[in-house]
Amino acid sequence: MDCSKLLGFVVLICFTIPMISCSSDRLFSAWPKSSSDESIKIRVNMTRRSERELSIPERLRSAVDRSKERMKKIEAFAKQKIRGQLDAETPVEVGDGEFLMSVAVGTPPVSFEAIVDTGSDLIWTQCKPCQNCYTQPTPIFDPSKSSTFSRVPCGAPLCDALGNTQTGCKPHCTFMYEYGDGSFTSGDLAFETLSIGSDSEVAGIAFGCGNHNEGQGFSQGGGLVGLGRGDLSLISQLGSKAENKFSYCLLSITDSSSQTSPLFFGEGASLSGAKTMPLIKSSIIPTFWYIPITGITLNGKALDIPPGTFDLQSDGNGGMIIDSGTTITYLDEPAYSPMKKAIQSAIDLTPVDGSSTGLDLCYGTSSSDVILPTLVFNFKGGVDYELPADNVFIQISENLLCLAMLGKPSGNGFPSIFGNIQQQNFHILYDNAHNTLSFKPAKCDSL
Ligand SMILES: *[C@@H]1O[C@H](CO)[C@@H](O)[C@H](O)[C@H]1NC(C)=O
Repeated sequence: MDCSKLLGFVVLICFTIPMISCSSDRLFSAWPKSSSDESIKIRVNMTRRSERELSIPERLRSAVDRSKERMKKIEAFAKQKIRGQLDAETPVEVGDGEFLMSVAVGTPPVSFEAIVDTGSDLIWTQCKPCQNCYTQPTPIFDPSKSSTFSRVPCGAPLCDALGNTQTGCKPHCTFMYEYGDGSFTSGDLAFETLSIGSDSEVAGIAFGCGNHNEGQGFSQGGGLVGLGRGDLSLISQLGSKAENKFSYCLLSITDSSSQTSPLFFGEGASLSGAKTMPLIKSSIIPTFWYIPITGITLNGKALDIPPGTFDLQSDGNGGMIIDSGTTITYLDEPAYSPMKKAIQSAIDLTPVDGSSTGLDLCYGTSSSDVILPTLVFNFKGGVDYELPADNVFIQISENLLCLAMLGKPSGNGFPSIFGNIQQQNFHILYDNAHNTLSFKPAKCDSL
């Protein structure tokens, strides 16, 4: 008797007659599935959140507007962390982003589009029964139909990591997050099997099962995948299974919206011949990926930026974070103004009013008709990030070229942000095991 044929037959019955409750766990354990200690290799194709119907100038304008909203969320989040979580009514999260990935939860898996967010930790999706759910393009996950769903018990370290002091833990672990713009989500923290990429299943991932979700920020997605540095993020939970690292290569904002940007976990996230800088970890805001910027050089000349401008202070103020969810770079004013001045004196043209773009420094020209200065961000250890002109200036329309960076008032507590236009066409590796960030120019569509 051929046992494998019999097993296949039983599985077939289970899938064709869903009324019969088969324990898929026990059945599947007979298959040579990847064991939990094995290192995984996952590739995910991310799509840029975009309004396909919009022209490129309109797309850029709405990305700039979203950057401003995101900066406010980062500010609200940072302020709360700096003030101390305990006085807070509801923990604030950043919870937004510019890229989407497909992910599935449960057994059988239910897939949805999730916002990928390097600025927050929690993974969550909308869940039945809905007290309040917004419309999402795919069916809402129903935990009662999944054989692998279990609630996180009180006292579990990942429940404590929520920092939800106000909701308590009765009778099991619940979460409630606000997103700085009034959006919020709340529900149970639960363990589930997550399917990511083409055929990678990871069991026992804690995620927020949101029964009450309000806000416009989440449209286009059924939830979120947090890729911050905190305990609840996907990368922290995958841990050594994914060698504590992920990498991505972001296509240019002006590329066709049907092209995808690869995101790699584990073995796939590797770079040879890359430059590497140390990351900085903040005990006040453990979620953020702080990068050790030391200065900015324009056409080979170091800008006159007051010492300490970029320092991450011990109270959690300042510093610079790298973020995939903010489109443009925000620099502390004491760094932004000398940079703007130096750019203006290097470009032999009079700036034009570009206020319709939401940006600050614009020229009535095309990038091919002007010699643009070379900008380098300097990082600790002599690591130079040379920005190609396309990562500094965006061609909004044929005759409108704008600096894709803005200043932000200094001393208000929140960090400078290294945005995604500055990261485009680079393969960037976030390595939690070595506490480093590596980067290398790359053709993202051929990785
Ligand atoms: C991702 O994109 C690559 C290249 O276009 C393709 O070969 C691969 O099959 C895609 N993977 C998934 C999971 O869609």
